[in-house]
Formats: sequence, structure tokens, C-alpha cells
Amino acid sequence: MDQDNRDWWRRGIFYQVYPRSFQDSDGDGVGDLKGIIKRLPYLTRLGVDAVWLSPIFPSPMADFGYDISDYTGIDPSFGTMEDFDALIAAAHDSGLKLILDLVPNHTSDQHPWFIEAKSSRDNPKRDWYIWRDPAPDGGPPNNWLSEFGGSAWAYDEASGQYYYHAFLAQQPDLNWRNREVRDAIYDVMRFWLRKGVDGFRVDVIWHLIKDAEFRDNPTNPHYRADRPPHEKLLTQYSTDQLEVHTVITEMRGVTEEFDNRVLIGEIYLPLHRLVAYYGNDLRGAQMPFNFALLSTLWSARAVEMIIADYEKALPPGAWPNWVLGNHDRPRVASRVGPAQAPVAAMLLLTLRGTPTLYYGDEIGMRQVAIAPDQVRDPFEKNVPDIGVGRDGCRTPMQWSAERHAGFSTAPPWLPLAQDFASDNVASLEAERASILNLYKALIALRRRLPQLVHGSYEPVAAHGDVLLYRRRNTEGVAVIALNFGAVAASVSSSAIGFSNEVLLSTLMDRQGEKVEGVLDLRANEGVILGPHQDD
Ligand code: NOJ
Ligand code: MG
Repeated sequence: MDQDNRDWWRRGIFYQVYPRSFQDSDGDGVGDLKGIIKRLPYLTRLGVDAVWLSPIFPSPMADFGYDISDYTGIDPSFGTMEDFDALIAAAHDSGLKLILDLVPNHTSDQHPWFIEAKSSRDNPKRDWYIWRDPAPDGGPPNNWLSEFGGSAWAYDEASGQYYYHAFLAQQPDLNWRNREVRDAIYDVMRFWLRKGVDGFRVDVIWHLIKDAEFRDNPTNPHYRADRPPHEKLLTQYSTDQLEVHTVITEMRGVTEEFDNRVLIGEIYLPLHRLVAYYGNDLRGAQMPFNFALLSTLWSARAVEMIIADYEKALPPGAWPNWVLGNHDRPRVASRVGPAQAPVAAMLLLTLRGTPTLYYGDEIGMRQVAIAPDQVRDPFEKNVPDIGVGRDGCRTPMQWSAERHAGFSTAPPWLPLAQDFASDNVASLEAERASILNLYKALIALRRRLPQLVHGSYEPVAAHGDVLLYRRRNTEGVAVIALNFGAVAASVSSSAIGFSNEVLLSTLMDRQGEKVEGVLDLRANEGVILGPHQDD
């Protein structure tokens, strides 16, 4: 296998599709696999390399697919296995890789495994889940909290025991200390790998193993009342246990029974703990998702520090990655504001490491306001009114100014953004300097300049609102200057090297401009510079 093929996930740009909201093909207001097939040409036009689908498996949809009742099927709302086979064939024909979401931490309470496990204390599947006797007072076995509100333990009258659920009670956690559970999920992985999927994004991978003694979690001294209640405790004993790394290495081994697959881990941890998920000798996940940009204060200095900390924390040989948005966090254009969204795009696509784009961010989609009677997200339903709801970042993709934005012929399952008639793929593709065309130009430039992929990251001292860095390898150098501020700023060229030319500005109007002496940046402008052609 040639190096290029083995390297695809390092060079590639990933794109997350939330299947319910990408494209509906059968007029039920819910996106589906045939809809995704229809939109593959858009993704190749955009220039991304790999598509990650949030879960498409049979599910009661208590958590919209993250509660799986059959790991090797397709939920009828998304289509059939034939549709899936057609999707993977079409994706591969278009040169796109396909990544599935693996949700091994928990199943649906409707999964046959759990139904069996629940049926009696001595059922052979009992130990596939986490059952504990009540505390002496009859209450839950310990103080662990569910991320979606309340205790993480649900009482089962019939057997007189509690089962553990890190998320909804309809999402019982599997017992990953049980060998049969591991083997069952590894077989699920093989099922999809044999179909040709190019890898998995593994849901809450840092949750898989819990403390063997189920000790109480300590209280969080930094808890703030405006935060969700599960943050009252630190998850010292319920997540991020040392033994999890053995499991991840086993999973990695399963992917390596096949050629050129990738294992991505969903992990929300501070950087210094996140990097442990590359595993001993890099035998863990190839890409433990780096979510640092999802929660940072948006300033040049804060972002500069995150990059420096991450670069420093990475084990030798570990490949970095960056994420700007996903289906659990507010839209980037709302977090940083529409004026800074192009700067965020330039940052994501010029940093060292594989970028993951969240569908719709490339057209500047913003958080959509959800009226109380439109709320679908169980997190918002259980923990209302403090802004944890995830519906606002999962609204339908805005394709055109047509009725229902070209997403569906029926009213969509979540409301459309009010501005969809102006902010949509069709209108933004036609507008020369739109954010969508900026994304395309950035992706094309990243492809053209190998230093943007393989080059080193070199911070360049800057001050104020400007973030300045170089990407360099033997093939060349690029300088990136990002103005995080809403006023113009200047950088002296002694900082960046003489005789540069603008390769791309976020405002899309300076290509080819020669820069000598001083680089002037307009408000909210980012530029990529390269050595002047004549030099
Ligand atoms: C993380 C997923 O991204 C989120 O959407 C889901 O609710 C939880 N895991 C539980 O599966
Ligand atoms: Mg549909």
C-alpha cells in the first residue's frame, strides 16, 4: 500500500453529516441516506475527503440515534441496508471516505441484549450491563450523575437492582469489563469494516471503563449554578480510567485487520489528559478529537495558547486534529459571531492537523432559536432553560431559497433558520466572496500547498488581536495572520519575512497583492501569505 493511501486521514479534511438534517429524499421531513447520496456532488465540490455520519442504526430515537437497538441495521427513517450499500459505493466512487459513528458505551434499553439482561438476575446477558444493589437506604448505589440530569442509576423493580446510565435511562451502559461485550462490539466493527467503511468515530470513548469499586465521585469546587447539574461532581471514578486504554488498543487492532482504516475518539478532557488517548506507542486512537476550540474564549491570545499547549502535549509522532463545531455544541458562527466566522475557517484550515467541519458551518449557519414546543433534544427537556439544548445546532441544511430550503418537501423535523432564503448553498455559491466560497478556496489552497498539511507549526510573536504563525516544510512556507479584532491592525513585515504575497484573504479580494514593509489587516480579516513569486 503506498504512503499516500496510508496517510489519507492525515492529509484529508473530514466533514460531519448529521443525517436527520442533511437532506430528506422521501418527504417525511427527516434526512436520510438517499438524501446524502444526492448531495455527494456538493461535498466533492466543496473539496472534503471524508464524511462522518452520526448514527444511522435502528433506534427508538430517545437520543436521536445515540440509543441503538440494533448495531448492524439501518433505521427505517434513514432507509435500508441497500441504501447504505449504495451510499458507500457512491461515496467511494466520488473519492470520499465514509466514517460511521460507533456507540459502544451504551445501547438503547430496547436493544435485545438489555431486554435479556433485564429479564432476570441470572440471565447470561445480565453482566453485559452494570447492575448494582441499592445502597443501604434503598437509594442509588453511589452518587454518580447522568449527563442528562438526575442520578445515573435507574431502579429496576422486578430484579431489585439499579443499572447505570451515563446518559438517559433509555441508554443503559454496557459493561466493558465483560469479555463477551467487547467481542460482540468488535464483531459489529468487523461487520461495517467488511462493508468497506473507512473508520469509526467512537462515541464517548473515555467513558467505557468505570471504577471497579464504584467509588463516589468528588464534588466539583468550581461548579457554577448556571451550568448543568451533572457538573456538580467531577467524573474522577466514572470516566477516564486507566484500563480504558487496553480496550482502545483492542479496537485499534480490530480496525487494523483491514487496510487503511481510522479510529477517531470522542473525548472531552483537558489537553494533557486527552493526549493519553493516542495510547502507549501510539496504539490507541489515531485521532482523539481535539475539542479545545469549541469552548475557548475567542481571542488571539487564548487561541495561541491552546495551539501552543496542544503542540507541546502531543506525544512524538502523534498526528494533531482540530474541530470547530459538532452536533452537541453551539454553532461556531454564533459562538464567535458572523464577522469572525471566516477567520475561524481560516484558522481551522491552516492549523497543523486534520480539520473536521460540521455540516452547515461552511455556509455560516447560526444557532437557530427553538421555541419551547419545538424542543426535541432530551438534554434540553431534562435540563431546561440554561442553554444546553442541542436542537439549535442540528437544524436542516439550507440548500436553496425554495420552500423548506430544498431540504425536504415536508415541514422539517426541526425549524429552519429564518434567514435560509438568503443564506443557503445556492445563493452563497453564486456570491463571489461568500463564506462558502472562502471555505472552498481554503480547502483548495490546503491541497495546493503541502506545507499547510505537513509543515511545522511555528508561532510568530504578535500582539493585540492578531494571531500570527508560519507553516513550513522543505517544500515551502506560508504565513497566516488572523485579526480577531473588529478594528484594523498592522503587522510589521520584520515579523513575517520580506516580500510576501497574499495567497488568500478571508475577504477574498487581495489575492496576488504584494506585501512589503507592513501587513495591514482590516477588521476581522485573516490572510495567508506566501513568498512573492519573483523571489
Ligand atoms: C456524545 C454524542 O455526541 C451525543 O450527541 C450523545 O448524546 C452522547 N454522546 C450520548 O451518546
Ligand atoms: Mg426522509
